[in-house]
Amino acid sequence: MSETGLEHSQVDVVQSSGDEAEIRFVTSKRSGYVARAHRNPLAIGGFAVPLSPKLVTWTGVFPGVASPKVRVVDIGSGYGGLLLYLATRVAPDCCVLGLEIRTAVWQQAHQKLLELRSTCGAYRRVAFLHTNAQRYLWNYIERASLDALIFAYPDPHFKRKKHRQRIISRTLLPLYAYLLRRGGRIYTSTDVEALYEWMHDRFEESALFVRKCRLIERHGKSRYNPNRVPESKPIEDSDEASIQFFKNDPYAAAVRDWTDEGRRVSRVQGDKFLLVYEKV
Ligand SMILES: C[S@@+](CC[C@H](N)C(=O)[O-])C[C@H]1O[C@@H](n2cnc3c(N)ncnc32)[C@H](O)[C@@H]1O
Repeated sequence: MSETGLEHSQVDVVQSSGDEAEIRFVTSKRSGYVARAHRNPLAIGGFAVPLSPKLVTWTGVFPGVASPKVRVVDIGSGYGGLLLYLATRVAPDCCVLGLEIRTAVWQQAHQKLLELRSTCGAYRRVAFLHTNAQRYLWNYIERASLDALIFAYPDPHFKRKKHRQRIISRTLLPLYAYLLRRGGRIYTSTDVEALYEWMHDRFEESALFVRKCRLIERHGKSRYNPNRVPESKPIEDSDEASIQFFKNDPYAAAVRDWTDEGRRVSRVQGDKFLLVYEKV
C-alpha cells in the first residue's frame, strides 16, 4: 500500500519528496502508535498523488462496490469515527471518503476499517486515504461530483500568522465550490469560537454559498484562545430555521456530535458551533 492509501497500480503517480520539518511527536493512548501532532498543510510534496481524478480506479479503493462514485468527502478525517458512524446510514449508492494528513492517524483509521469490512458490507463504501487534502483534493475528486464536503473540528491554527493554514479560507472556498454539485453542501463544526467566527465570515462574504444552518450549543466552555481578538459584531445565535435544518438533515448531527472530536467535546461539555452552507 502506498503513502496515499492507494495501490500504486491504481493511479498514475507523481512521486514527490518530503520537504517539511518534523514538529512534534505524540504517542496515541489508543494503540501506542506514534503520531505527529501536526503536519504543515501548506507544504508541497511528501505524498504520491494521482495526476488527475480520471486516473483513480475507485473499484480498488471500494472493493466489491459496483461503479463506486465518491459523493461525500471528510477532510481531516482523523481516526475515522464520523465515516464509520455514517457508513450504515448513508444512501446505498453513496461512497464516502476520508482524507487524513497524519500517517499514524490514517493507519489506525484504515486498519480499523479493514477489520470492520469483514463484519459488514456497508463498510466497503468507506475509504480513508493518506494525503494533504489542502493541496491534493483536486487530484482525486472530479468537478461538480460531490453532495457534501465535511470539515469536522478542523485544526484551529490559533496564531494570527498561522491563519493562512486554516482549511476554510478565501482562497480555498471557490476551489471547494468547484467540486460540489449545485445544491451540494459544506459542513463545518468546531469547539473554538474564534474559528467559528472566522469560518462564518469567510462563507458570508462568498457569493458562491448560502447559509442553511448556524447552530450554537453552549455549555460555557469554548476552547481557550490566548490570541483571541474580540470580533466587532457578535454573530446572532441559532435561529428557528437552523434548528429545523439540524433536525431534518442526515449529516448535521453526525458532523457535530459523532466524530471522535465531537464525542470528546461532549464529554468535557465544551461549546459546539455548527455551520452548513449550500453551493448556489
Ligand atoms: C482536530 S482533528 C479532527 C479529526 C476529525 N475530523 C474529528 O472530528 O474527530 C483535525 C484533523 O485534520 C487533519 N488535517 C489537518 N490538515 C489536513 C490536511 N491538509 N489534509 C488532511 N488532513 C488534515 C489533522 O491531521 C487532524 O487529524
